[in-house]
Amino acid sequence: MHPDGKPTPGYSIAVLASGRGSNLQALMDAIAAGSLPARIAGVFSDKPRCGAIAIARAAGLPTVALRPRDFADRDAHDEALFSAVAAVQPDLIVCAGYLRIISAASVRRFEGRMINIHPSLLPKYPGLDTHARALAAGDAAHGASVHVVVPELDAGPLLAQARIPVQAGDDPAALAARLLPREHALLQATVTLLALGRLRIDRAPVTLDGRALPAPLQLAANHTLEGA
Ligand code: GRF
Repeated sequence: MHPDGKPTPGYSIAVLASGRGSNLQALMDAIAAGSLPARIAGVFSDKPRCGAIAIARAAGLPTVALRPRDFADRDAHDEALFSAVAAVQPDLIVCAGYLRIISAASVRRFEGRMINIHPSLLPKYPGLDTHARALAAGDAAHGASVHVVVPELDAGPLLAQARIPVQAGDDPAALAARLLPREHALLQATVTLLALGRLRIDRAPVTLDGRALPAPLQLAANHTLEGA
């Protein structure tokens, strides 16, 4: 139970993060605001000193942070970290700036239960340096995508996207800063649809309200997902 006597929402989320944790904070804010009916069961990281772990600890959330260098290889690190994830029995795993490639075995262990937020309009620019690559290509628009995690990097079914115009004079830092609040709204809205059971990723194809999703949902200016 919540301290205020309301029942604890059953939908549980594990968050994986390596960085400052602003997307984790966005999920926590949506839960606190009552718009996301879920709870965060744990925050998991490869970087014990990252911002995300500090945010989680300050909020009293369970954390597990395991340094890769303390393990023999990628598989051993993944096995340990994802066993800790499994122990909290999450309905959903959200990769929110988790900067390590996840081994295929660990992805398959949570098939249909893991999503990632990526700062590009996938399928453009999987991998790193997305803002610089969008600028170098002269793109008129840039954005962020939420997708289902599959073993191939940044390649799973797309759920939703947020789009922003590229402006004259943008550098990668300016573009990233302008995109970030849209990323937060995108993640909040997409995870809310998953928690409500409206968006289903546990089998192919992805469905929204029981119908196959024909194209990724688009984040509108008012922070709702068009078509949902
Ligand atoms: C975000 O830009 C996210 O899209 C990317 O990594 C960044 C994480 O930021 N995958 P934060 O740690 O959530 O603040």
